[in-house]
Amino acid sequence: MQLLSTIAARFENALRDWVPDAERYAQLVTIAREPKHGDYQANIAMPLAKPLGQPPREIASRIVERLKIDDLCEPPEIAGPGFINLRLQNAFLAAAVKQMAADERLAVGKQPTRRFVVDFSSPNVAKPMHVGHIRSTVIGDSICRLLRFLGHEVISDNHLGDWGTQFGMIIYGYKHFVDSDAFRANPVAELSRIYRVVQAIIGYQSARPQLDAEKRRLTRLRQQLIAADATGEGNGNKEAAKKVKQLRKEIAAAEMRLRELEEKVQAVDDDPQLARLAAEHPDLETRAQRETARLHQGDPENLALWKQFMPLAIREIDNVYRRLGVQFDYTLGESFYHPMLSSLVEKLLAAGIATESDGAICVFLEGFETPMIIRKRDGAFLYATTDLATIEYRLDHFAPDAILYVVDHRQAEHFQKLFAAVRRLGHKDVELQHVAFGTVLGPDGRPFKTRSGSVVGLEYLLDEAVERAYGVVCDPQRLDRSGLELTEAQQKEIAEVVGIGAIKYADLSHNRTSDYEFNIDQMVQLEGNTATYIQYMYARTASILRKSEIMVDASWLEQVDVVLETPAERALALQLVQFEDALVQSAHEYMPSILANYLYTLARQYAVFFDQCPVLAAPPSMRDSRLLLCYVVGRVIRQGLDLLGIGVVERM
Ligand code: ARG
Repeated sequence: MQLLSTIAARFENALRDWVPDAERYAQLVTIAREPKHGDYQANIAMPLAKPLGQPPREIASRIVERLKIDDLCEPPEIAGPGFINLRLQNAFLAAAVKQMAADERLAVGKQPTRRFVVDFSSPNVAKPMHVGHIRSTVIGDSICRLLRFLGHEVISDNHLGDWGTQFGMIIYGYKHFVDSDAFRANPVAELSRIYRVVQAIIGYQSARPQLDAEKRRLTRLRQQLIAADATGEGNGNKEAAKKVKQLRKEIAAAEMRLRELEEKVQAVDDDPQLARLAAEHPDLETRAQRETARLHQGDPENLALWKQFMPLAIREIDNVYRRLGVQFDYTLGESFYHPMLSSLVEKLLAAGIATESDGAICVFLEGFETPMIIRKRDGAFLYATTDLATIEYRLDHFAPDAILYVVDHRQAEHFQKLFAAVRRLGHKDVELQHVAFGTVLGPDGRPFKTRSGSVVGLEYLLDEAVERAYGVVCDPQRLDRSGLELTEAQQKEIAEVVGIGAIKYADLSHNRTSDYEFNIDQMVQLEGNTATYIQYMYARTASILRKSEIMVDASWLEQVDVVLETPAERALALQLVQFEDALVQSAHEYMPSILANYLYTLARQYAVFFDQCPVLAAPPSMRDSRLLLCYVVGRVIRQGLDLLGIGVVERM
């Protein structure tokens, strides 16, 4: 049941016909942060003091008088200046837990259905998939699972970047420096090598001419710092101190930039073969762009190469999806929309929504400094053009109530403009959301990269996580101590579930809008806020149920009398019955982290319970009650992790 909204509704009834805006005030009910304030707390009376012109404690007692909640809670208490504290009745909690146990959906209701299109993962294919792609894939998949579980209709669509400039790069590289034997032996690896070669040369050719200017800039900044330091800081001159601080910041940024430029230059200078290619193919970026343009114009040779490369790229990413257990209803990439672009631009021109400016076709949008360009002067279409066509297509074919874009926060402006343009096109009703997420950082606080400077390949990372998981969970000493006898195959299976779960959970448990540091060692640990910890608690529930030799079936569940005598039992039951609230909030805010943290809290409370309350050794009546708690905890964890796309194992 949705407790929070149920309680809020009771408050709304109590406020109606008396307080203006009853609904809004009723929303001020929250889960109490400290047990001594009860389970729920309503901070409603204080903000009402002014509009009603009465002392808050008086208002509070009037609310309590009118509040009908004795089927759920003990008599409400008024505390301090006028807080209303609520404590659920143990009998209510016990009945709610039993209801969860008996229901295959753990008593989670279905909401009024909306239809969602979820655009997620959407990598630019034919270049190595990297750790940044995990976020969109894992968050998007979890959001789909959550929405579906709550009863919504979900259409997932992988908007592949299969038509971009990377193809010009690969086509150029393939035409000029493919190693045919290597291509025959392992085409994916050779294409990926070609891509990296072209990328390195382009990086080199753009960095090289900037290097001297950047060095001069840094020297100038350093001189300015010396000068500012001399007049400033020590003498308590505020202005100068500010200047010094500002300069230090600029210097740090310039140093970082310089280092990046130097890395790019060095990568080629240190490699004679790359250096030769760079000399033989000047201005490679333009050459590659020309190949992309040819592809887009339908040049038969380039189109044939694209058709040859695409299945390879798809097979590659499908491997990753299989490993992650992620599926899509549709995979309609950018190339799919290409034939629709020119008529879309004409339509917008005809409707007066787009106008020509300096040869380019633009949509000017209120509130934005720069327009959205939909066709460049040379006739090329842009990312935004494709996205507009994509929305039109989705509205036509799927008639969704909402479209979610699970994409890096750096694309925020793109989506703001896109959505504004869609409104101009007259689509007012559909909800459009950029479900943004932050960057995955390395230990140095910069976007995650390997030592060699290339972004880490995704499959390699997955393998690494599984290997570390094996090291932690299947450590022979640990297995010995816990008396677990597992075959090598079982251990491998556990390591896979734990390793993949660890990567996903590290991503999902962080608030998606913030950056987070990628640390494989930490994410597979048995202690701390990790999937491993939660999976371990699940395995403990499974283990104790096995040992009890009880047949958990309807008739057993029926006859168990749930007693919540100790604080640990009660806290556990309370957390259990808040499951649906966590799901609803998580889905409502498109924030899997809310569910992840709910599960972590549940797992911790289970550990406390396990520590303080004997189960198998308890007297029979208590034993059954506690076993039932273990059973429901296990099911909530399994269901909850499943909604995060994470598996469990019965023994670990
Ligand atoms: N391919 C894009 C990228 O890797 C993400 C696409 C997101 N979806 C969209 N409809 N724009 O940056």
